[in-house]
Amino acid sequence: MSSPTPHHVRVGDNLDVLPTLDGPFDLIYLDPPYNTGGRVVTAYDDDRDDWTSFMRDRLAQLPRLLAETGIVIASIDDREIHHLRILLDECLGADNFVGTVVWDGSTINSAHLLSVSHDYLVIYAADLAALQASGTRWRQERPDAEMVLEAATDAWRTAAGDRAEAQKRFRSWLSPLRATLPRGLTEYDRIDEHGRLYRVSDPGAPSVQKGRSFRPLTHPTTGQACPVPKRGWRMSDASMDRMLAAGMIEFGPDHTTQPKLKRLLADNSTAVPRSVFRQEREGARHLASIPGTGEFPVPKDVDVLARWFSTVAGPDATILDPFLGSGTTIEVAMRLNGTDGGIRHVTGIALDEGGIVENVLAPRLDHCEQVYGDEVDLSRERAVAPTVAG
Ligand SMILES: C[S@@+](CC[C@H](N)C(=O)[O-])C[C@H]1O[C@@H](n2cnc3c(N)ncnc32)[C@H](O)[C@@H]1O
Repeated sequence: MSSPTPHHVRVGDNLDVLPTLDGPFDLIYLDPPYNTGGRVVTAYDDDRDDWTSFMRDRLAQLPRLLAETGIVIASIDDREIHHLRILLDECLGADNFVGTVVWDGSTINSAHLLSVSHDYLVIYAADLAALQASGTRWRQERPDAEMVLEAATDAWRTAAGDRAEAQKRFRSWLSPLRATLPRGLTEYDRIDEHGRLYRVSDPGAPSVQKGRSFRPLTHPTTGQACPVPKRGWRMSDASMDRMLAAGMIEFGPDHTTQPKLKRLLADNSTAVPRSVFRQEREGARHLASIPGTGEFPVPKDVDVLARWFSTVAGPDATILDPFLGSGTTIEVAMRLNGTDGGIRHVTGIALDEGGIVENVLAPRLDHCEQVYGDEVDLSRERAVAPTVAG
């Protein structure tokens, strides 16, 4: 039995198609034309008022389609961000603004005064207060953590299990990078007897709390009791026993030094995402590498969207993209599904301007179906002819 078709593309003007869709969607990704005066913009005149009213009409449909726990991410540039923020405040509520992420990619203009290298991801929740109350925590792989972990593994391997030598090798690799890597990462500069990269942290409880251990630890060499933090250890007796058994307590040279806790980078390689990131734009190059695809000037990056989609929505998310363009959102969902076994479903709306559906979207989706196995239902029949300004 074949699996259900997970992704749907509707061809037409999103103003006409959106009212025919049923939600709820867990994630709505918006990548509207940026009002830059290029040919991408055809569904309205290249003019501020027209752009605003073009967007307002479409955004007005979002609340009906967004799940109560849903998230909206909108890509936008420097020129329109403040207008888009006002529009999104209007339609989703200013209280539901999560934040603005700055994506510093390479420059795409040849300006004489200011070479703008960034654009934005603007993030809103359907209900931010409920999202926060639910205890949801967004996490992303820490940039560069993987590289640091690999260097530690390398040092351990080449030192043939000699802990001091491995640590020396790792630190000499790390030394020139200390100025550029975040401190939160370079603090991990010790290698233990199992080859694990770690830092030490304060073992004391932040305040006097019930259930905390006050038990003195016995130093493994001297056999004498080590000092206990003033407010006790930050864990119970049972957790302390587990940490001792797992080799997660670092003793000093003798019993006069208070033992410390080990924190492994491998267990802490994710963090709450930061609001600024730097990543070279690769969307156009990637699209051009897909066989049979024609030109499309502004595809987004699969890697960047994959990171943010998997941060804000689960593996079974239903995703709506009203400005599908070349279909990046569908490739992102397929790639993520292929990686984590998820069942993300995308519904995208593509305006067929300049033959983009036949020349870019269809070949890209065919290719992705072959690579990832998910199916796409590309319905070319138009609900209503697109409103294309002259
Ligand atoms: C910035 S691009 C989106 C690029 C897309 N995220 C990608 O990675 O390929 C904006 C897209 O919105 C499309 N568009 C413009 N007006 C539209 C409308 N009324 N309905 C649907 N799509 C529209 C444009 O044709 C263009 O492909």
